[in-house]
Amino acid sequence: GGGLAVAGAALLSARGFARTPAKLPKRTRAPASGEKAISLAAQERPFRLLGAEAPETAIWTYGPEPFHLVRLARGETLSVDFENRLPEHTSIHWHGLRIPNDQDGVPYVTQAPVKPGERHSYRFTPPDTGTFWFHPHCDTAAQLGRGLAGVMIVEGDESRPYDEDIVVVLKDWRLDEKTGGYLPFSTPRGELRAGTFGTVRTANAAIAPRIALPAGGDCRLRLLNLDSTRIGSLGFEGMEAAIVAIDGNPIAPFPLHEWRLGPAMRLDVVVRAPASGAEGRLMDFFAAEPVTLATFVGEGEALKTGSFDPAPLTASDIPEPKTKGAERLRLAFATASGGKAALAIDDDRDPLANALLDSLCSASKTNWSMNGQSWPGGDHSNVPAPLFTLKEGRSYVVELSNETPHVHPIHLHGFTFKVLNSTRAELPVHYADTVLLTPNDRVTIGFVADRVGAWMVHCHLIEHQETGMMGYVRVV
Ligand code: C2O
Ligand code: CU
Repeated sequence: GGGLAVAGAALLSARGFARTPAKLPKRTRAPASGEKAISLAAQERPFRLLGAEAPETAIWTYGPEPFHLVRLARGETLSVDFENRLPEHTSIHWHGLRIPNDQDGVPYVTQAPVKPGERHSYRFTPPDTGTFWFHPHCDTAAQLGRGLAGVMIVEGDESRPYDEDIVVVLKDWRLDEKTGGYLPFSTPRGELRAGTFGTVRTANAAIAPRIALPAGGDCRLRLLNLDSTRIGSLGFEGMEAAIVAIDGNPIAPFPLHEWRLGPAMRLDVVVRAPASGAEGRLMDFFAAEPVTLATFVGEGEALKTGSFDPAPLTASDIPEPKTKGAERLRLAFATASGGKAALAIDDDRDPLANALLDSLCSASKTNWSMNGQSWPGGDHSNVPAPLFTLKEGRSYVVELSNETPHVHPIHLHGFTFKVLNSTRAELPVHYADTVLLTPNDRVTIGFVADRVGAWMVHCHLIEHQETGMMGYVRVV
């Protein structure tokens, strides 16, 4: 359609690298084999988020450090011995990985919840390379709010090695800065609107850290937005930057100016590191006053001096959806009745209206719907009927339409979809597992339903997910 042409044209005009190929180079190295066995324990660990002198915060992690990193080689099998040392049940969902449904980690849907003190094993072979993450799939506002998330990198996607490879996890925390304790993770009004924002912004669990890069190097930065709420408008100052992968999926390098990265979304960029002693900054340009999220400092003798023309990643093996003859579906994201009643009196200046709004919001835990259906009660235990029943092996084209005045990062489990068309003209055709729907946006995605099971589809703005904007498709 017209949108596709517009998106294609935007992508072409955005390209500015001499060597950027029309098609990504093929993978030539054979995948690895063998198995990597790891142990993960979800538990509370004290951590100084607010600085060396400030009080500690009781964060929840999977390993000794926040956002525990698991690195795998393409083709390698991961086996995980997981232990729940938390005071409540949990599970691990492997976000963005195309793995069998029984490994997908959704309590009551793909497995029983892992109760306190229990163990659970996961075992799978990720078929794709890239930057992924893992997190719980229940009581998510609180569990993810306390930091329970890990990063997974599947290596083997580079055509030439970069000079550095660094993970940058973005997450805000809702903290009382005097005590280091938490403020409420959800608020009735946040649930109904754009979510409840953190009070302390961090990159790699530090406030505006300084990160050393080899001076003049072409450095891969894997940006992950692991926040529950905030949608960044990310860009760099003092460094040239190119996008090389979206949600881990390689794309021909194109210049990064500003990119809206919602909760759960990832962006792999290559930057040309500053000269020795010079600085570059990762910024969030969303607010009128841009925020510095991290500062990068060049160190050592300059590695590269020619013009910036980063090496592309190699092509992935995502099955290509057939668009001709594919079954077409529509998924509308809307406010549910509880949300509608409250929206109707949405006026922040009138204290009476505000009080009424607060009581309406608290009374309703069902603010949002998908095709008129809301997940009952927020918890997973009450599993409704599927949104759609799909046939294994078929291609589907789905129009996602946002009928609300808010932004929704929409995530489909188990499948990497192709974003074919969007009313946001700046969005290139690309593969993703999470796509941002801005107000009144319509986005068309295509994917091959190549594995059976119940696959969740939901908003990754956690307070929306937990107040109705969650469902699943069943592939039979
Ligand atoms: Cu990040 Cu339902 O997932
Ligand atoms: Cu949402």
